[in-house]
Amino acid sequence: MSERGLQVGVIGAGAMGRGIAQVAAAAGHGVVLADATAGVVAQARSAIGKALARDVEKQRRSQADADAVLARIADAGDVSTGYDAFRSCGLVIEAVVERLDVKQALFTALEKIIAPDAVLGTNTSSLSVAAIAGACARPERVIGIHFFNPAPVMPLVEIIPAITTDPGVTERVTSLVAGWGKTTVVATDTPGFIVNRVARPFYGESLRQLEEGIADVATIDWAMRELGAFRMGPFELMDFIGNDVNYAVTRSVFESFFYDSRYTPALTQQRLVEAGLYGRKRERGYYDYREGAAKPEPVKDEAIGRAIVDRTLAMLVNEAVDAVHRRVASAADIETAMTRGVNYPRGLLAWGDEIGAANILRRLEELQDEYGEDRYRPSVLLRQRVRERRPLLS
Ligand SMILES: NC(=O)c1ccc[n+]([C@@H]2O[C@H](COP(=O)([O-])OP(=O)(O)OC[C@H]3O[C@@H](n4cnc5c(N)ncnc54)[C@H](O)[C@@H]3O)[C@@H](O)[C@H]2O)c1
Repeated sequence: MSERGLQVGVIGAGAMGRGIAQVAAAAGHGVVLADATAGVVAQARSAIGKALARDVEKQRRSQADADAVLARIADAGDVSTGYDAFRSCGLVIEAVVERLDVKQALFTALEKIIAPDAVLGTNTSSLSVAAIAGACARPERVIGIHFFNPAPVMPLVEIIPAITTDPGVTERVTSLVAGWGKTTVVATDTPGFIVNRVARPFYGESLRQLEEGIADVATIDWAMRELGAFRMGPFELMDFIGNDVNYAVTRSVFESFFYDSRYTPALTQQRLVEAGLYGRKRERGYYDYREGAAKPEPVKDEAIGRAIVDRTLAMLVNEAVDAVHRRVASAADIETAMTRGVNYPRGLLAWGDEIGAANILRRLEELQDEYGEDRYRPSVLLRQRVRERRPLLS
C-alpha cells in the first residue's frame, strides 16, 4: 500500500476514531472522518485541534504543522446519506460501536463504493475479524487494525488477518501502520488477540485473591506496583479503564473461549458494574474518588505482597507461554505487545525465564492441587520447556 497520496477513511469519530484520524493525518494522509451522529465529527475535530495545540505548546510540532494536520481531516458529517465521501479512500478503518451486525452492515455498504483494491480495517477489540469479513463479498481485503487508547499516544497496533485475509493485504497494512510510527505486531484472529488475552490474569487473579480475603485492594495494588514493578496496580487500573469496559472484555474473552475457566469473570466486578461503580468516570469503583473520601492504606507486609505477585505473575507467564503454544503470535511479538500495549515493565516470557520456568510450573501445580481447578492448569509448552531445559523466550 503506497503511502503517498493514500486517502484514509475513518468511520466512527468517538474516542478511538478521532485518535486514529489524528494519527493518519499526522502521517500526511488526507483523512475523511464520519460518524452516525450529527455533530460528532465537528466535536472530534475540535478535540484533535486541542490535542495538536498541546503538542505545539510542548514544542513537539510547529503551529504550521498542527494547522496542516487538522486541515487534512475532512468532516464528512453523518453517514445517513451514504458513504460517497469514502469513494477515493484506499483504506477505510471503522471504529464504530462494538456490534457485529453494525460492523457487517457498514462494510457491506462500503464495499459497493470503494475501489476494488481498497482495504477495510476494523478496530474491533473483541469481535472475530472473520465474522466481520464473512459478511463481505470480498473478505480477502478485510483485516483487523487494533489501536490502543489513546491512539495518538499508545505505540502498539495489533494487526489481525482473518483466515480469509489476503497475505498481501496483511503485509501492506503492517508496513503502512509501521510507517505511521507505530509498533506493529501480528496476531491470529482469536479472542482478545494478544494484549486483551494475555493480560486477563492481571485482573482476574487479583480479583480472586481479593475475594478470598488474602488482601484488600490497596494492598494488592501496592504489592503489584512496589514489588511487581507494574506501573499501576490492578484495581486502580480497572478503575481507570472503567469496570464496565474491563468486565465486558473479560466476559467476551471468557464466552469466546467456550467458557474456559481460566478466564472466568469475577462476581465482585460484576456487582460493581451492576451498581454503576465504573471507577474514575463515576467517582467510585474499587476506590472512592469523591472529594474528601479517605484513601485506604495498604498493609505493607512483604511476605503477603510477594505471594500475591508470585501467584499473579505465574498466571500471566503461563498465559503468555500458552499464547505462544497456540500460535496467537510469535514470542517476540507477545513480548512487544505487553511492554508497548500495556506498559508491562518487561516481557512476560523473559520475566518467566528470570523467575525460572520450573518455579512457575511448580507454583501453578501447587495452585492446581490446592484448588482442584482447571483454571490453574500449566500450559503444555511450559511443561515441555522445563523438561527440555529451554528458555521460554526462544
Ligand atoms: N475505547 C477503547 O479503549 C478501545 C480500544 C481499542 C478498540 N476499541 C474499539 O473501537 C471501537 C470504537 O470504540 P470507542 O471507544 O471509540 O467508542 P465510542 O462510543 O467512543 O465511539 C463510537 C462512535 O461510533 C459512532 N457510530 C456508532 N454506530 C455507527 C455507524 N453505524 N456508523 C458510523 N458511526 C457510528 C457513534 O456515534 C460514536 O461516536 C469499538 O469497536 C471498540 O471495541 C476501543
